[in-house]
Amino acid sequence: MKRAIYPGSFDPITFGHLDIIKRASKLCDELIVGVLNNSQKNPLFSTPERVSIIKELTENLDNVKVECFDGLLVDFAKKKDAQVIIRGLRAVTDFENEIQLAQSNKVQYPELETLFMTTSLQYSYLSSTVAKEFASYGGDISPFVPAEIIPLIEAKLKNKEN
Ligand code: PNS
Repeated sequence: MKRAIYPGSFDPITFGHLDIIKRASKLCDELIVGVLNNSQKNPLFSTPERVSIIKELTENLDNVKVECFDGLLVDFAKKKDAQVIIRGLRAVTDFENEIQLAQSNKVQYPELETLFMTTSLQYSYLSSTVAKEFASYGGDISPFVPAEIIPLIEAKLKNKEN
């Protein structure tokens, strides 16, 4: 059983993330989308909200599970008996951070492999931060995130203003 983890903040999930989830799910028996419960980052969506959004958006993918994790990714991978970490690479600017993450995780847990997937061309500019920035100025975020979550993002940003 090849079990992989696709970890991230997913605040919010974008078409770029969903594209990686779909493609990665074809390469393993089970893919766990690991949502980081990150108390330091002050996310727009709570961890349970992010988990529930991703569950809904991936319900058609039979071998995809969505779970949150606290603490170190290597500990989560050990707990889940996962052998592979999947990360998306958009541009060379991602590389520095990603290679450091992959190599430090490898030092901590040598059996764990990190596989990088190149982001599909049409999403190579896209990030959760870009989606939030456009939404915060009332921009059209329909090219960035699924239609179902646009009202949720708008409501969160409105709440933040008040
Ligand atoms: O979507 P993101 O925010 O780029 O994802 C980053 C993530 C969640 C993969 C990374 O921050 C992570 O693995 N955090 C868990 C804590 C950890 O293991 N840190 C050690 C590696 S530096």
